[in-house]
Amino acid sequence: MSDIIPFYGACNPDLFSIERSSMDRSGKIVDFLNAHLPQGLILDIGAGNGFTARRIRGRRIICLEPDPDMIPSDDDLLWVKGSAENIPFHDSYFDAAYATFAYFLAGIDKSKGLAEVERVLKGNGTIIIIDNFGDDEFTSFSSGSISEGPAFYHAHGFTSQVLHTSFQFASLEDAHTLMSSYFGEDTMRGNIKQEYEYKVVAYTKLVCAQGALPTYHAFGTFGTSPAEQALGPNASGDR
Ligand SMILES: C[S@@+](CC[C@H](N)C(=O)[O-])C[C@H]1O[C@@H](n2cnc3c(N)ncnc32)[C@H](O)[C@@H]1O
Repeated sequence: MSDIIPFYGACNPDLFSIERSSMDRSGKIVDFLNAHLPQGLILDIGAGNGFTARRIRGRRIICLEPDPDMIPSDDDLLWVKGSAENIPFHDSYFDAAYATFAYFLAGIDKSKGLAEVERVLKGNGTIIIIDNFGDDEFTSFSSGSISEGPAFYHAHGFTSQVLHTSFQFASLEDAHTLMSSYFGEDTMRGNIKQEYEYKVVAYTKLVCAQGALPTYHAFGTFGTSPAEQALGPNASGDR
């Protein structure tokens, strides 16, 4: 069975380009990764078109992507074909791994993916998983859940930090194109604007050589919403 979870960006790169340029335009996700990834060799899991990997500074990044149609042909990043569940590297190879908006894809075997990423990390390697947090204006338009709650990650020793960001579009036309394609014309009628509040969550774990232990970072102030408070003492709002 193929590990590729179908993603619209492979057949509609123009739409994906609107998504990537508007989502977190202020760069909080990349800032978080630059601040928390160690130096060394880093794996980007489900790297898409390399948007995030291109913005990570001072580390050597290998982009792992299962769908060749996502990978730009004119690109100087280092690409390897593989999936979260099947990482084609030997044990204890990377200093860290991260995934931005790849683990939430419905159909990914997260437990298998987590075991696989821990296998390829060196002792004291860092894993950072970035996903939609929910509890915000952007995800409120969705009729189903498109957020990744903390239960799975906390049970596996991750801490969490909520990043307060936004979808900020270059034009109302771009906003209409992307938001209507996500949530439908009917839902978005009368609701098109250039910026939508958006919360992202960063799940972080330090993997020890003898097994996995949770990290306990002091990340600043608590978030204010009940959903953020529910994350517990390791979470923080980032305003
Ligand atoms: C929402 S996109 C995110 C891309 C990129 N990480 C970013 O932030 O722009 C999800 C990516 O996961 C890839 N993907 C699909 N199945 C996967 C799997 N089993 N393991 C890892 N990535 C997968 C898709 O091809 C797509 O490139």
